[in-house]
Amino acid sequence: MADARRPLVAANWKMHKTREESRRFWDAFSARLTPESTDRVEVVLCPPYPSLPVLAEAGLEERGVFLGAQNVHDAPRGAFTGEVSVPMLQDVGCRFVIVGHSERRIHFGESDDMIARKVRAVLEGGMTPILCVGESLEQREAGRAEAVVIGQLEAALAGLDAAGVSRTVVAYEPVWAIGTGRSADPGDAGRTGALLRRYVAERYGEEAAARVRILYGGSVNPDNFGAFLAEPEVDGALVGTASLDPETFAALVEEAARREIRAGRGGGDIR
Ligand code: 13P
Repeated sequence: MADARRPLVAANWKMHKTREESRRFWDAFSARLTPESTDRVEVVLCPPYPSLPVLAEAGLEERGVFLGAQNVHDAPRGAFTGEVSVPMLQDVGCRFVIVGHSERRIHFGESDDMIARKVRAVLEGGMTPILCVGESLEQREAGRAEAVVIGQLEAALAGLDAAGVSRTVVAYEPVWAIGTGRSADPGDAGRTGALLRRYVAERYGEEAAARVRILYGGSVNPDNFGAFLAEPEVDGALVGTASLDPETFAALVEEAARREIRAGRGGGDIR
């Protein structure tokens, strides 16, 4: 039996916050963090690249918070102007990397193959990929949502073994719910989570399926987060807008921690 999955709440700041703004966020956010929360909930901050060392040096890991990047190149080095590699992210203290966000797919032409290479590179570097999948409104209205997310998952996991898949975090982010204030129905997110987990079970076995964490992303806020967490197949959230404000993001972490405490889970004995 796999251990209970530890909830994960990740902030994706996208292209927001200077170094000074990042520092101010950390001061206000860390003042609200308690060990009761960080023992139970994995908290990840994914700022823009220039703020990574700022947060690392502010000592976020000492407070039980982890650093993540929003993107990476799959090659370790080379003539790739504007890109950042896995060893560079390791060097600055990153533990997580968001891979295949819909904004990268849409605005920067990231293909399924490219995303699969990035997932492999991140895992080989000992970090955790947060792999994003999600359908557009057009795909949803055409009744293709399930086929699209499974297709993206299948392509991104290609070439991994069960151990690699177990360590991957999958974020279901329907494109139409991102930054729109219109979140998915929690039940729909839960059903999609179940679908993704079933795919992992069939392909990589029950153990991997029990371990892989599945997040929901898209207009998550303190008012709706509880309903997503109530879905057994949703293990947390990847948060954009609501992660930019330290009080709001702290409220999301607290919500996840409260749920664990009520369920009698946590306190360091879980993965
Ligand atoms: P919002 O929370 O602003 O909808 O963004 C979600 C997202 O894209 C996180 O990666």
